[in-house]
Amino acid sequence: MLKIDGLRVNYGGIEAVKDITFEVPEREIVTLIGANGAGKSTTLRAIAGLVKPASGRIHLQAEDITALSPDRIVSKGITLVPEGRRVFPDLTVLENLKIGAYLRKDSLEDDLAWVYDLFPRLKERSWQAAGTLSGGEQQMLAVGRALMSRPKLMMMDEPSLGLAPLVVKGIFDIIKEINRQGVTILLIEQNANMALHTADTAYVLETGRLTMKGTGRELLSNEAVKKAYLG
Ligand SMILES: Nc1ncnc2c1ncn2[C@@H]1O[C@H](COP(=O)(O)OP(=O)(O)OP(=O)(O)O)[C@@H](O)[C@H]1O
Ligand SMILES: [Mg+2]
Repeated sequence: MLKIDGLRVNYGGIEAVKDITFEVPEREIVTLIGANGAGKSTTLRAIAGLVKPASGRIHLQAEDITALSPDRIVSKGITLVPEGRRVFPDLTVLENLKIGAYLRKDSLEDDLAWVYDLFPRLKERSWQAAGTLSGGEQQMLAVGRALMSRPKLMMMDEPSLGLAPLVVKGIFDIIKEINRQGVTILLIEQNANMALHTADTAYVLETGRLTMKGTGRELLSNEAVKKAYLG
């Protein structure tokens, strides 16, 4: 579904992503794991059109989307749940969800019902200011808002960051459920253990380069991965 070919991203003189090539097959959960500063967020930001690659191509199905604006990329069916969630704190839960659908002109009722079905907690709290939600609830809202654009591919930047283990498990269960309902997932994580247990295919990203590929299960039992990422 998504093909990344020879992607490079520089910030001034810093090469954050150095010639990476990988694919996200339709209906799979693919994860990139890696340490702080490895280039994980930069990779997602390049796919979302938020930073311009120095070189390389990004294809969604047969279409080259490398040069498209972030808005166009959302309307093609790719959405990003950003690092740190970034909900609008002074807006209500419902207002935040509606913002996720800002590019659409059709009715939102079905999608709201879908999101409220996945996250009954958001339905209960639809009139609450987003800034007063707990961390886990804000993560649910960030995911719900992304789903309101009706994505084919949902990219998630460290959804587990700063959340208690039980809440993290809930978020990963929801990721699997969303995937089961037909949404392809590209997930980046420092929580390698959860990510590898969830993913069909996994890559290790080290200082801007992909150094390993395997099924989630293969990388979980790989000695080098265990030593570096599984504590
Ligand atoms: N806007 C920017 N300007 C300059 N350098 C940047 C910028 N954003 C990221 N970098 C640098 O690019 C490299 C990759 O950063 P990136 O945020 O992609 O890493 P990451 O793998 O997501 O790390 P983390 O796990 O800490 O979120 C880092 O060295 C970082 O300092
Ligand atoms: Mg990051």
